[in-house]
Amino acid sequence: MLKNIIIAIDGEASSGKSTQAKKIADYFGYTYLDSGAFYRAITLFFKRKGITTIDKFNRNELDNISLNSKYNRGKNLIYLNGEDVSDDIRSAVISEIVSDFAKEKEVREHVYKHLRKFSNNQSTVIDGRDIGTVVFPDADFKFFLYADPKIRAERRFSEINNDGINYDSVLNNLNYRD
Ligand code: DC
Repeated sequence: MLKNIIIAIDGEASSGKSTQAKKIADYFGYTYLDSGAFYRAITLFFKRKGITTIDKFNRNELDNISLNSKYNRGKNLIYLNGEDVSDDIRSAVISEIVSDFAKEKEVREHVYKHLRKFSNNQSTVIDGRDIGTVVFPDADFKFFLYADPKIRAERRFSEINNDGINYDSVLNNLNYRD
C-alpha cells in the first residue's frame, strides 16, 4: 500500500497559507484540512451554550465535541457533531473570541487529536500554526510562509469588510501579532 503523505503549511498571519494549501491539495488530489476551522467549531460549540469567555469554559465538555471535515476541490465543509457549521464558524463573534479558546491547552489537544485521526488514512495538506512543529513533527514536507506585512494587511483588510476598522489598525495588529 502507498504511504499517505502529510504536507504541513505554517506561516505568518494572512500570508496565504490556506490559498496555497488548497492549491497543493488540488494539484495532487489530496485532501485539505483547515486547523483554524476546528478551533472555530469548538468555540461555536461553547458560544451556543452561552460561554463566550474562557474563564467559563468547562474542559469536560470537550468529550462531547466531535469534529469532521470534507474537502472537495476548493470547497471545505466543517462538521460539529455531524452538523455542517461551515458558515456559522465564520461569524464576526466567533472571529473575535476564537483566539482565547485556541490558547487553551485542552482545546489545542482536542484539535490535535482530531487532526491526527483525520489524516491517518489519507494524504493531506494541513495549514495553521503549530502544524509542522507540534501536530505533525514528522510531516513529509513542511513549509513556512512569509509575506510583506503591507501585503498581508491589505489582504486581511479586504477580507474583514467592516466599516469600523481601517487599514492602519489592521497593519498595527499584524505587526503586534508578529
Ligand atoms: O486561521 P483562522 O482565523 O481560522 O484561525 C482561527 C483561530 O485559531 C485564530 O485565533 C488562530 C488559531 N489557530 C491556532 O492557534 N492554531 C492553528 N493551527 C490554527 C488556528
